[in-house]
Amino acid sequence: MLDGYKRVIDYLRISVTDRCNFRCRYCMPPQGIQLLDSQEILSYEELLRIITVLGQHGISKIRITGGEPLLRRGIVDFIRQIRKLDTIKDLSMTTNGSLLSQGHMALRLKQAGLDRINISMDTTNFIRFAHITGQGQLKQVLAGVKSALEAGLNPVKLNVVVTEALCDSDLSYFITQVYQHPIAIRFIEYMPIGEKNMGQKISIAIVKSKIEFQGQGVLEPVMNIEGNGPARYYRLPGAQGVFGFITPMSEQFCNSCNRIRLTADGKIKSCLLSNQETDIKSLLRKGCDDEEIYRLFTNTLRSKHLQHSLSYKDQASVRRPMVRVGG
Ligand code: GTP
Ligand code: 5AD
Ligand code: SF4
Repeated sequence: MLDGYKRVIDYLRISVTDRCNFRCRYCMPPQGIQLLDSQEILSYEELLRIITVLGQHGISKIRITGGEPLLRRGIVDFIRQIRKLDTIKDLSMTTNGSLLSQGHMALRLKQAGLDRINISMDTTNFIRFAHITGQGQLKQVLAGVKSALEAGLNPVKLNVVVTEALCDSDLSYFITQVYQHPIAIRFIEYMPIGEKNMGQKISIAIVKSKIEFQGQGVLEPVMNIEGNGPARYYRLPGAQGVFGFITPMSEQFCNSCNRIRLTADGKIKSCLLSNQETDIKSLLRKGCDDEEIYRLFTNTLRSKHLQHSLSYKDQASVRRPMVRVGG
């Protein structure tokens, strides 16, 4: 599939739930969100139909997001069903990691056919973690990361949204991790989405230079990291793992955008940072044919923006909070 600027779109990000057991400050509005009723959420059957149709038209990469995707019942079976589609070559998930170590979840996901996983972890300090995530338990997330590595999900990537919580002690921990594990640790610029704009606290360039200073080495660019997203990767000398930097605000990557999103309530979003949404649920529920599904996506892609115009200076202009689109 191509968008209006001839960018190849081969990556679909699907949010399967708006529920989350954390309350990350940069993601969830302070007052919480009005949760969707179960009938408002696309069923697994509806999602599989969409994936099947789009798979026949060039979508080969699927990422499952939330809210917290592991809170949705039946998620392991859903992964298994997607894996059966031979059009889908890369199947991944973004999670807060808190449930991965429970009930052998990481292993069950791997056995169901999940290829790889991205886990949010903004700090390694228990108090600052609780402050950032509202009700998150760092202990559970650390156990989740361990389970994901042991289950053979590869690569495991950690997502670190750069906020004031990030400290030198976190960087020391992350540096140790990349020497011990084939892990990718990605620092992400905060995007002011939803109702408030927290602003930028620390620049990615500073994080990068601190890693070089604390890691006592120069970060060398690395090209061949499994992934379809916007991160740029670097390695410290002799490390197994890598660092990645995701800079939607200071260095846009819209030119090479390859993705489209589907929200849990059945809206197609051609861009994370735009308010344009196309409803697919009513089309599906009034009994459409496959061609109509495909056409709705291609029509939506025709108006995909060339680039976003979000800025730290403005009041946040993107209305849908991150927790309802999944990054
Ligand atoms: P892979 O590279 O395939 O592992 O995935 P990813 O890094 O795209 O996925 P993930 O869900 O881990 O997202 C990491 C961060 O990148 C999150 O903060 C996302 O919001 C952000 N991100 C992912 N895609 C886009 C995008 O198209 N635009 C912008 N602005 N941010 C994005
Ligand atoms: N800016 C940047 N990244 C964000 N995420 C959630 N909210 C924001 C935001 N406002 C990240 C989470 C998660 C991924 C889906 O998006 O840390 O890893
Ligand atoms: Fe939940 Fe993830 Fe949003 Fe945190 S970033 S509130 S873990 S969906």
